[in-house]
Amino acid sequence: MSRGRRGRRWHALGVPGAVALLLGAPASGDVPPGYPLGLSRVLYEISVPPEGAGSPEVVALGEKLFNDKRLSVDDSVSCATCHEPTRGFVDHKPTSVGVRDQTGKRNSPTILNAMFNADQFWDGRAKTLEDQAKLPILNPIEMGQASPADVEKKLRGIPEYSAAFQRIYGRDVTYDDLAAAIAAFERQHASADSPFDRFVAGDANAIDAPAKRGWALFNGKGRCTSCHAFSTTRGLFSDQKFHNIGIAAHETDFIDLARKSAAIVRSGDVDQIDRLAIETDMSELGRFLVTKQPADIGAFKTPTLRNIVATAPYMHDGSLATLWDVMDHYNKGGVPNPFLDGGMQRLGLTESEIDDMVAFMATLTSDDVAAFGKQELARQRARKNVRPERDTDVAMGKKGNLGDLAPNPDQKNPADLGALPPVPQL
Ligand code: HEC
Ligand code: HEC
Repeated sequence: MSRGRRGRRWHALGVPGAVALLLGAPASGDVPPGYPLGLSRVLYEISVPPEGAGSPEVVALGEKLFNDKRLSVDDSVSCATCHEPTRGFVDHKPTSVGVRDQTGKRNSPTILNAMFNADQFWDGRAKTLEDQAKLPILNPIEMGQASPADVEKKLRGIPEYSAAFQRIYGRDVTYDDLAAAIAAFERQHASADSPFDRFVAGDANAIDAPAKRGWALFNGKGRCTSCHAFSTTRGLFSDQKFHNIGIAAHETDFIDLARKSAAIVRSGDVDQIDRLAIETDMSELGRFLVTKQPADIGAFKTPTLRNIVATAPYMHDGSLATLWDVMDHYNKGGVPNPFLDGGMQRLGLTESEIDDMVAFMATLTSDDVAAFGKQELARQRARKNVRPERDTDVAMGKKGNLGDLAPNPDQKNPADLGALPPVPQL
C-alpha cells in the first residue's frame, strides 16, 4: 500500500449521496472524510463506479501487479517503468520506451487523478481504467505479451499470484480480474490538497502574489480556462474534450495521413488503434483515429494541470521540455494548421506575465509530490533562457497576421479587426 494521503482508501459514498446527486441537491459536507481538499464528492461519485473502488486486498494486489515486471513478455518492463510512483507517475522521457528498448510515439501521462478522466489515453480510445490497463500489456512495443491467455498462463504459473487471485476472486488469474485490481490501485491516487486548493478554500496566503497574478491571467488574458476548465465541483483543469492546439502541426501532413488512416482503421478495433497510436506516424492524427471525424484531426485530450510541474516533458509527444516552452507555444497562438482549434489565439503575454503563469501552475502541486515538484521547477527555471518555441513578434501581433483579433488591434478602426493581410500585387 502507498502511504500518506494517497494511501487512504476513499469509500464509495453509498446510496444517499447518489440520490442527492440525482435530485440536484448539494452533496452534504462536500468532501468525504480523508478525501483530498479540492476534489469534490460529486466528481468522485460520477467517476468511481461502486464496484471499482476495491477492497484493501484488491488494492494491494493491484499495486503489486502495477510494479511487477513479470507482466511484460521478457520481465523487463512494468507499468511503473513508464509511470514512476516517486516521480509524479510519469517517466520524464519525451516518448516512452518499452520492451527491447523500443520507443513509442506518445508521452506518458500521470496516473495521479486518472481515475477522474472521462476517457483514458490522449485520444480517449479507452473509456475506463480497466479497459485502459489491458492495452499496454499487449502492445508489442510496451509490454509485448501476445494475448490475454498468455498473460493468464504466465501469472497462473507464479504461485503467489495464483493463490492471491484464488483468495480474492475465488478463481485462478483472469485478465479481467487483473485489470480490475490494477484499476482499484489507480483509484487510490486522487491527488489534490495543493497550495492552490488551500487558497480557494479561503487561505489567502497559501499562494504568493505572482501565482495570484498568474491565476488571474489564466482566467483572463491567457484564455486557458476555456479548455482547462476549473470549478469547485470539477477541479481538474480539463474540459475533458479534445482539441487541436497545433503541437506536431509543423511536421505533419494531416490531410495525407488522414486519408491513409481512414482507409485502414477498423472503427471500434481498439487493439488496432492502440498499435497505430503507439507505433506509427498516424499517432499525430489523435482523436481522428477513434472517431474518423475530420474535426478531430490532430486533436488530443485536454490533460489535467494538477501536479503539472512534476510531469515534464509536456504534450502528447513530449515535445515541449518546460512550462516556459508551453507558455511560448500558447503565446504565439499555437502552430497554424487547417484543424487548429478556434480557441487558439495569440496572447500578447509579456515575459513577466509568463513567469506569473508558471508560478500559478506550480501551486497545483499536491503535498504528496511537493518535494519532487520543487526540484523540477528549479530544473525548469534553470533552462528558462533556452526557448525554442518563443516568437515574441508573433505573440505581440507584430508579425504574421493570421486574420485573427491580434492582441493590440487598432481600436479606432473596428473594420480592421481581424482583417486579412492585403493580397500581394503580382
Ligand atoms: C512503455 C511505457 C508504458 C507502460 C509499460 C505502461 N504505460 Fe501507461 N501509458 C504510457 C503512454 C505513452 C501512455 C499514453 C498513450 C496514448 O495516450 O496513446 C499511457 C497511458 C496510460 C493511462 C491513461 C492516462 C490518461 O491520462 O489518459 C493510464 C491510466 C496508464 N497508462 C496506466 C498504465 C498501466 C496500468 C500500465 C500497466 C498495465 C501501463 N500504463 C503501462 C506508457 C506506458
Ligand atoms: C483550445 C483548448 C486549449 C487552450 C485554450 C489551452 N489549452 Fe493547454 N492543452 C490543451 C490540449 C488539447 C493539450 C494537449 C495537446 C497535445 O498534446 O497535443 C494541452 C496541454 C497543455 C499542457 C501540457 C500538459 C501535459 O500534461 O503535457 C499545459 C501545461 C497546458 N496545456 C497549459 C495551458 C495554459 C497555461 C493555457 C493558457 C495559456 C492553455 N493550456 C490553453 C488544450 C488547451
